Amino acid sequence: MASSSSNILVTGGAGYIGSHTVLQLLNAGFMVSVVDNLDNSSEIAIKRVTELAGAKGKNLTFHKIDLRDKKALDGVFSSTKFDAVIHFAGLKAVGESVEKPLLYYNNNLIGSITLLEVMGAHGCKKLVFSSSATVYGWPKEVPCTEEFPLSAANPYGRTKLIIEEMCRDIYVSDCSWKIILLRYFNPVGAHPSGYIGEDPRGTPNNLMPYIQQVAVGRRPALTVYGTDYKTKDGTGVRDYIHVLDLADGHIVALQKLFKDSNIGCEAYNLGTGKGTSVLEMVAAFEKASGKKIPLVMAGRRPGDAEVVYASTAKAEKGLNWKAKYGIDDMCRDQWNWASKNPYGYGSPESDK
Ligand code: NAD
Ligand code: WQD
Repeated sequence: MASSSSNILVTGGAGYIGSHTVLQLLNAGFMVSVVDNLDNSSEIAIKRVTELAGAKGKNLTFHKIDLRDKKALDGVFSSTKFDAVIHFAGLKAVGESVEKPLLYYNNNLIGSITLLEVMGAHGCKKLVFSSSATVYGWPKEVPCTEEFPLSAANPYGRTKLIIEEMCRDIYVSDCSWKIILLRYFNPVGAHPSGYIGEDPRGTPNNLMPYIQQVAVGRRPALTVYGTDYKTKDGTGVRDYIHVLDLADGHIVALQKLFKDSNIGCEAYNLGTGKGTSVLEMVAAFEKASGKKIPLVMAGRRPGDAEVVYASTAKAEKGLNWKAKYGIDDMCRDQWNWASKNPYGYGSPESDK
């Protein structure tokens, strides 16, 4: 059973989902070590998490290390005996992965292989891995259940699929491993303090960070990709989930790793089970922020699916977890973060 003395290694813990999860772990009494190369994040996120955690902030240790640096990673495992690992670290921009597939295979696959090798060598065999709804490719129907056939629509998605397969193979080779694959749908929102949140480098690829940057005046308008889908208003439908619900999903997954003796290697969707269109999301954000989001209607974005949302039954039953927050909460917290930090962890100068 997890106790306040449990040591958890979090790779990618300076990033968007990682920083929120690290805060929840500290609040729950865990000792946390973060390994991150800060490739897509800022050390300021780590400092703010430490502050938000109050007295428990002292239980956080940060290592600026690239996961592929096996010697450095081995050093971290030699200095602390970890009870489990949550593995967020990876590159995640779909379009960039199409342009630079080898960058994605190198970073995501070699990073994960190195981590799994070092874990095995140190006898740490409990893992929670950040997978994605992207492993369902273009689902033929919704809601997506964990039993759906898996496929990849781009190199980024292929790295998730391959890492999932590696995990299944590792468990087959050695059943003392316990692995939970969490397939996230569309994470949005921020900690209600407005002190940590998502801060993508360059032009945002995803809907919410783009809307947020329009709202604070960094971009003139949101381009709506596709108005002729067979959906309620013609725009794409997704399952948006508050990052706090996602973070909680990791805590319950960890607890399952500690508690259940026979879990093998198991995948769970983390979503709300509800579909929201692009225009519904824009309307909810306008309501939360009081800002008008100018729209430019455009054609479909290549590679996009029409409607994607999760079946949540397996996570509800197996993890005893259910998302608590709705779209209005997500937009309120996203706007709170955006209005307090219009340039994220950076400044207008770093926006160039
Ligand atoms: P993020 O980019 O904010 O966080 C990832 C972190 O990993 C960053 O801090 C980055 O610096 C670090 N990192 C990357 N490569 C590294 C390496 N080789 N060594 C050490 N650190 C490295 O992304 P996020 O949104 O927090 O996503 C976290 C994980 O969840 C990723 O694996 C992502 O693929 C997955 N995921 C994200 C979404 C989403 O929409 N945000 C959806 C599904 C799955
Ligand atoms: C949502 C909707 C767009 C931007 C991606 C990855 C997926 C996962 C989550 C990591 C779609 C529309 C978007 C914009 C728009 N990430 N949109 N204008 O495509 O569901 O999933 O992030 O694993 O792998 O593919 O999320 O936020 O990009 O798009 O109209 O400027 O918003 O067409 O309908 P997506 P998204």
